[in-house]
Amino acid sequence: MRSLCALLGAVLGLLLLTAPAARAAEMPPVAALQAQMGSAAATATVYEPHLSVGDAHTAVDYVGYPAVDVLAHLFGADWTEQGETVEFRALDGYVSRIAAQRFLSEGAFIVFAHGDGAPFTVDNLLQNESDVPLGPYYLVWDNIGNPALLAEGARNWPYQVAEVLLVTLSDAALLPEGLDERFHEGAALARTHCLSCHMVNGYGGEKHEGNLAEITKDYEEDEFIGLVLAPLSVLDETTMPALDERLPAEERQRIARALYDYLAALPVLE
Ligand code: HEC
Repeated sequence: MRSLCALLGAVLGLLLLTAPAARAAEMPPVAALQAQMGSAAATATVYEPHLSVGDAHTAVDYVGYPAVDVLAHLFGADWTEQGETVEFRALDGYVSRIAAQRFLSEGAFIVFAHGDGAPFTVDNLLQNESDVPLGPYYLVWDNIGNPALLAEGARNWPYQVAEVLLVTLSDAALLPEGLDERFHEGAALARTHCLSCHMVNGYGGEKHEGNLAEITKDYEEDEFIGLVLAPLSVLDETTMPALDERLPAEERQRIARALYDYLAALPVLE
């Protein structure tokens, strides 16, 4: 009997150890989602940030459901208590992480079609790409009349979303013990500007392979800053967008330098 208990204990321990820290849900096919939601999809009119140039905005109609309704459907009514962050994983490895609380204060929609029936694609001007497929799902924000959201551009607008997770993030990969506190801002900047696509010590997106903590150490500071401010000045051809061009030039320089200092100092953990 005792050995059975020990065995059960061991199995349980193993289960607990291997249990994922996050709650994950694959997005169902569009027809299935519509049937499960039990209500007709709505039209959301937004300024499409991928098409915005400077202060000129293009309004686009999308069809979908309020994000809070989809999240409650996927995870249950208490979804905000299951993780601090909602993570959207895209087919191409892009990862977007957004504080769960934001969905309670701003309007967001998970959409799957254009209101006018046009192909579900967008031109991504910042990444020099046209007719980019948006499906299966695209997260859009009710940004008309909301200057703060408009100022964020396309940062929190993941497309090709196939999976949604609720997670509570640990800082260990980005801020390992012993890293000087003056680099903490650099870590926060990397999270905001780089880690949707790139990974640092296993944390981040998978759109471009490699550990940014390792890759950066191969770059001279000036070359790295040139790359971040204007990728096409260093690479012949790339879909990497330039660091947020709506920020003042001095601020962009400062951010690029802080990113370099942080990534050059960060130990390579994996
Ligand atoms: C939208 C996705 C995206 C974002 C955001 C992004 N990058 Fe990139 N980055 C790429 C891609 C894709 C490449 C590969 C270049 C290519 O071949 O197109 C790349 C290449 C690089 C390289 C060169 C890698 C090498 O192998 O030499 C560095 C360094 C880099 N990025 C740093 C950054 C930093 C720092 C940030 C944040 C300021 C950033 N990137 C933001 C997509 C992105």
